[in-house]
Amino acid sequence: MKHPIIAPSLLAADFGNLERDVKMVEASEAHWHHIDVMDGLFVPNISYGMPVIQAIAKHATKPLDVHLMIVDPDRYIDTFAGLGAHNLTVHYEACTHLHRSLQHIHSAGMKTGVALNPHTPVEVLSEVLEEIDLVCLMSVNPGFGGQRFIPRTYEKIKALRALINDRGCNTHIEIDGGVTLENAASLLEAGADVLVAGSTVFRSENPTGTISRLASLSLP
Ligand code: DX5
Ligand code: ZN
Repeated sequence: MKHPIIAPSLLAADFGNLERDVKMVEASEAHWHHIDVMDGLFVPNISYGMPVIQAIAKHATKPLDVHLMIVDPDRYIDTFAGLGAHNLTVHYEACTHLHRSLQHIHSAGMKTGVALNPHTPVEVLSEVLEEIDLVCLMSVNPGFGGQRFIPRTYEKIKALRALINDRGCNTHIEIDGGVTLENAASLLEAGADVLVAGSTVFRSENPTGTISRLASLSLP
């Protein structure tokens, strides 16, 4: 039986106890640390930057799944490679020359991710699918944790899964925003294989147990 990749979003961690929370994820059944970088321009919020990511990296052995919600992300691709990012996800809406950005990420030694805002159809990735290791479907408008899941995402997952299968790619489909213990199984059923979870993990009574429940779900 195959299981999903679970990526707890550290945006929902207690920043006063970041080392503790990173170590909790390390000791759990989670697979990646999801790291949300916001610039106050691409999204209305500002999260954290390089020094905080360095602090996270110091305590992390699991891969860093970095989600850039910033304009013109090309400026920082080499910087994030230097910080030890494993996956570097840029927004389709923030890249004028997406193909070039993806080549840059690969040549810097990282896996490529492309995130799509809720309003962006999955078909826009058709011509670059072979260059993408992970598509991050935003199931909320990016910028904040703790928002409500947008149900239309199910249709996007199915359409993207069909596109990926049709092309024989093994691109991951990651869902980011409003993932809960209630909707996780149906997201996997629709074709997702990576779940990001912020509030669901860090606001729960037992974050390690919540991660374990998500990680034990099965892929169809
Ligand atoms: C939102 C971020 C998410 C966020 C998810 O812009 O990309 O990764 O942390 O938070 P939850 O799981 O609380 O919706
Ligand atoms: Zn994210």
